[in-house]
Amino acid sequence: MSFDRDAVRARHAFALGLGRRAGALALDFFERRDALVIETKSSSQDLVSRADREVEELIRTAIAEAFPQDGLLGEEYGLQDGRSGFTWVIDPIDGTAAFLNGIRSWTVSIGLTTGGPTGDEEIVAGVIYDPCADELFDAIAGGGARLNGQPISVAAAGGLGDGLIGFGINLKVPPAVGAGFLERLLIEGGAFLRLGSAAQMLAHVAAGRLIAFYEPLLSRWDCYAGFCLIREAGGWVDDVFWRDRGSLGGIALGGAPGVRAALTRIVDIGQPAEPLRATA
Ligand code: IPD
Ligand code: CA
Ligand code: CA
Repeated sequence: MSFDRDAVRARHAFALGLGRRAGALALDFFERRDALVIETKSSSQDLVSRADREVEELIRTAIAEAFPQDGLLGEEYGLQDGRSGFTWVIDPIDGTAAFLNGIRSWTVSIGLTTGGPTGDEEIVAGVIYDPCADELFDAIAGGGARLNGQPISVAAAGGLGDGLIGFGINLKVPPAVGAGFLERLLIEGGAFLRLGSAAQMLAHVAAGRLIAFYEPLLSRWDCYAGFCLIREAGGWVDDVFWRDRGSLGGIALGGAPGVRAALTRIVDIGQPAEPLRATA
């Protein structure tokens, strides 16, 4: 590991409080969601977008004050290069559709990387906060993963039939990719769960509640924090595709060690290549 451990520790500690603060603001929007819709009589998407922007603004402002040399990559405001070698990868509200529809399945996701996405990038810390459940997941490279401060680890599953597999898909992916995967999974005796937030599902993998997660195409802000959690909880993450494309998007695949071989066999690694290039 090439990074300065004290610098990572300082940022990780900061991110714990920041995740909670951002989550509190998002929860405030969530709880006033109906009033906000009535207030503006606009589309519900605009209101949620306002919540997304304000939560990301809170996160970016706090980081800029505490670590002014750091880079920022967020879903709503894009990339701002830094000079410290650290880049924060932020999804202020992951699970917008659930949020919008009043379903308590959305999270704040904050990852921290060193290097760049073209080859030497390392995810060195991750925080995912689920405000509705008051669950704060965190990990630091080489320092394990926790849920509300207590150590967590991935499931002891030995095969696809030993628990639930988190799955997600979006409209950028050819439907056959998702349908084919689900068909193969069901044939193998597996079962899947689809929550509103990919980050939340990745956190549940780290906590051993889901045995694995697969989504054919996600952005870095959706899953970098979750990748760090899973690795630090003793699991594996397949991130080859992210590095190869040096891009914003890739396949998100990871889980407990015992399901790696079987899951990798039923994921069609080749098919998402075109949408990946088109959307990255
Ligand atoms: C989405 C969520 C969802 C996943 C989508 C993502 P957003 O992020 O993570 O679970 O299936 O692919 O785009 O738009 O709610 O931040
Ligand atoms: Ca997202
Ligand atoms: Ca989002």
